[in-house]
Amino acid sequence: MPADLMPADMTPQLILGQTLTFAANPFLAGPDAARIDPQGGVLIAGGRIVAVGAGAALRAAHPGATVTDYGDALIVPGFVDAHAHYPQTGIIASWGKRLIDWLNTYTFPEEMRFADPAYAARIAGLYLDLLLDHGTTTVCSYCTIHPESVEALFQAAAARGMRVIAGKTCMDRDTAPAGLRDTAQAAYDDSAALIARWHGQGRAGYAITPRFSPTSTPAQLEMLGALWRDNPTCAMQTHLSEQTDEIAWVRSLYPDARDYLDTYEAHGLLGAGAIYGHAIHLDPREIAAMAEAGAAVAHCPTSNTFIGSGLCDVAGLIGAGIPVGLATDTGGGSSFSMLRTMAAAYEVGQLRGRAMHPAELLWLATEGSAAALRLSGTIGRLAVGAEADITVIDLTSTPAIAQRAARANDAWQAIFPTLMMGDDRAIRAVWVAGKPRRAAIVS
Ligand code: GUN
Ligand code: ZN
Repeated sequence: MPADLMPADMTPQLILGQTLTFAANPFLAGPDAARIDPQGGVLIAGGRIVAVGAGAALRAAHPGATVTDYGDALIVPGFVDAHAHYPQTGIIASWGKRLIDWLNTYTFPEEMRFADPAYAARIAGLYLDLLLDHGTTTVCSYCTIHPESVEALFQAAAARGMRVIAGKTCMDRDTAPAGLRDTAQAAYDDSAALIARWHGQGRAGYAITPRFSPTSTPAQLEMLGALWRDNPTCAMQTHLSEQTDEIAWVRSLYPDARDYLDTYEAHGLLGAGAIYGHAIHLDPREIAAMAEAGAAVAHCPTSNTFIGSGLCDVAGLIGAGIPVGLATDTGGGSSFSMLRTMAAAYEVGQLRGRAMHPAELLWLATEGSAAALRLSGTIGRLAVGAEADITVIDLTSTPAIAQRAARANDAWQAIFPTLMMGDDRAIRAVWVAGKPRRAAIVS
């Protein structure tokens, strides 16, 4: 077919800039597992990456490609936010509470509003646009107990071409307010219907979502465990050991459980595909059981500092064999930006005595989160065959960052100021499934 008759997304697109690739997890293999090609290129066709390499060589080999040259900007996989609550968009940055009070004061009243499908649709669209503004192309999000809230997010994601994982948040215990409670059976039935409708449709994936043990009865956890057994390709997301008060509460509600993790494990809610948010205050038994099961942790450093939860031992968990992704946990987290979240991860690491390398921070926000969501190879990496979700980062986006980057002696020193001080102003362009979201500069 002559090039001028090809449909637009069949014409190869070549994007040029500094490219970031990983040969291995830099937490395990060291920072040299990451490579920055200062004059790299990514070739895209049919929504996927079809070649990654030296920009000039790709340009010569593909003369029919449309070229977008981003100069010195850094081309990375689109950020993957491994744990967030899109319905909390409107209550982000709410003052002065710790977890349980924060849920009761701010979160639950806001989540009640999602009974209205029009409100859910408005916030879902607003939220996904905010994510794209911040360079995030995939999120694994909680919804509310209302199936309409799930419908709204998947519809909004499909309209934007985004790969999104989400699920109906289930709560059937009287610890949750009337108006935000389902039943064990309704949680099963609603979740099963949403799985049938959405899981694997286009880029949608379903996450079975018990909010956390304190707001579910053992009967509900049991039914959701059975649902997961019947739908093992679904993710399963919940919260684990975020605050010490919460752990004491779990102990009083589940007196027979060995520990917090056991409240899930005993009901079929531990396994590959599980994503536990926070996971800060863990016993050695819990860490060993999670590693053995192949369960993942979503590290939420802006939330863990904002709500005062504690300092997660990310390097220790990865060393123990647990996949760890990075997450904003909005609205418990204080930012939609994965750059701000990398900065917080660095600061939490410092408070634990472990300075994370910029390669490790970028790995957590891309490949690490993709692996935690069982999407390695599909998203989160610049590699042949991966879906072409790509974020282009301006490494001189503010005067403060630019003056620091100008003194850099190597590529990592040029990148680190943006990881520490950058935000949505640093996001030069975002490509979703091979299509540019913003007008690109064509050379
Ligand atoms: N634990 C249970 N629900 C939530 C929530 O919405 N946010 C956070 N940070 N922790 C939780
Ligand atoms: Zn959460």
